[in-house]
Amino acid sequence: MANIVIVGTQWGDEGKGKIVDLLAEHVDLVVRFQGGNNAGHTMVVGGEQFICHLIPSGILQGKTCVIGNGVVVDPQVLLEEIDALGHRGIAVTPDKLKICEKAHLIMPYHKQIDLARERKKGEGKIGTTGRGIGPAYEDKATRRGIRFVDMLDQEIFREKVTTLLDEKNFYLKNYLAAETLDPEEIINQYQAYAQRLAPHVTNISIFINQAIQSGHQVMFEGAQGTHLDIDHGTYPYVTSSNTLAGNACCGAGVGPKAITEVMGIVKAYTTRVGLGPFPSELFDATGDRIQQKGAEFGSTTGRKRRCGWLDTVILRNAVRLNGLTCLAITKLDVLTGLESLNICTGYAYRGQILQDFPASLKVLAECQPVYETLPGWSEDIAPIKKAGDLPPNVKSYLNRIEELTATPIYIISVSPERDATIVVKNPFR
Ligand code: GDP
Ligand code: IMO
Ligand code: MG
Repeated sequence: MANIVIVGTQWGDEGKGKIVDLLAEHVDLVVRFQGGNNAGHTMVVGGEQFICHLIPSGILQGKTCVIGNGVVVDPQVLLEEIDALGHRGIAVTPDKLKICEKAHLIMPYHKQIDLARERKKGEGKIGTTGRGIGPAYEDKATRRGIRFVDMLDQEIFREKVTTLLDEKNFYLKNYLAAETLDPEEIINQYQAYAQRLAPHVTNISIFINQAIQSGHQVMFEGAQGTHLDIDHGTYPYVTSSNTLAGNACCGAGVGPKAITEVMGIVKAYTTRVGLGPFPSELFDATGDRIQQKGAEFGSTTGRKRRCGWLDTVILRNAVRLNGLTCLAITKLDVLTGLESLNICTGYAYRGQILQDFPASLKVLAECQPVYETLPGWSEDIAPIKKAGDLPPNVKSYLNRIEELTATPIYIISVSPERDATIVVKNPFR
């Protein structure tokens, strides 16, 4: 029996959705444990593209999907997602989607505050997705959040919204110079959401643990990436949750012994959307070429993603922080046609070579990537089904990643399609 956590190793958008969808075949439950609809996870099956922001990427394989207590949920977005999938023939019924009663809600003022704060900060902004993620986690930490269980109780919900809006409106109007909100409007809107979502709401810790005890396999689907983690990422240019594998336990109500495997998803190069340090970023024609060939636009906001070479300093950081047992490499096909490839192996800083990712942004700003250059390949690798059939230069690139990270590659993805994937080792067998 295997229960696996899947996490991004870089700054998000590594292709987690594709790999979770692929591996969902082998599990009974797929669980989101942190983040919210700042995530955009893409799956492509038979030429049809699906992007999930909140519903776990097990839904296309017909698996039971769970939104854990650690997720912050915008009920409006969730309902839109349920409806959009329904229109495409995928019924998201209460037995297919469970939502934790303890999950916190994203409220209209969270979105308003997120956007207005970024506007006010101007140049110094974080580049958030504007979905209200930070303000929602902020209220959770200051014990003023509203949970699903609170929304289902009309009296409690009314009281909480009215009290909170007093303060939020003051802040919106007087500090952020933004529009204020009407409590009655929010109460009516959210009561309608509550009615529709109530059949999905349950204690997911009990649900998941019972499933595990009866021999079912579970996949925990991370959102964002290791270097967007609030503690271990490039703070303050991070998201507002712990994105690391360890948080699968807290965010889903399971003990650490339930987890048997931790897979890190690695894009074959590096991207980042939003602001913040990115030592191996490319500002030249190669960067543009990767951006275009990889169609590197954010799945949530449509922003252009910044592109750069693969950075094994951050990958080694991800291996240690998540306890990765294996890797999946994605978007390898995007590198086809480049004459040579650089891999960042360390950072040059004031005459020293740093092997570990520095915490100080000031130090990071002075770091210069140290590169190792490998030959590229020109063969079309998208149709290849077996690792043994990959061109020699592709094999060298992959072998070097395994050496530099001391972690085995289990999966190699060569196109967005579910089937265009080389499974070197199936973590469930
Ligand atoms: P996630 O947030 O980690 O799930 O990743 P996103 O879905 O935001 O971004 C990954 C993008 O790359 C999506 O458009 C995927 O369809 C696409 N993709 C995933 N794997 C591959 C691959 O191996 N090759 C190519 N060309 N595209 C891929
Ligand atoms: P997936 O799951 C890439 C980034 C934002 C911004 C920072 C903070 O699709 O990989 P937030 O809205 O979370 O407060 O924004 O985090 N960010 C992501 N970047 N992929 C994501 O999710 C992201 N979720 C948040 O761009 O820099
Ligand atoms: Mg994404």
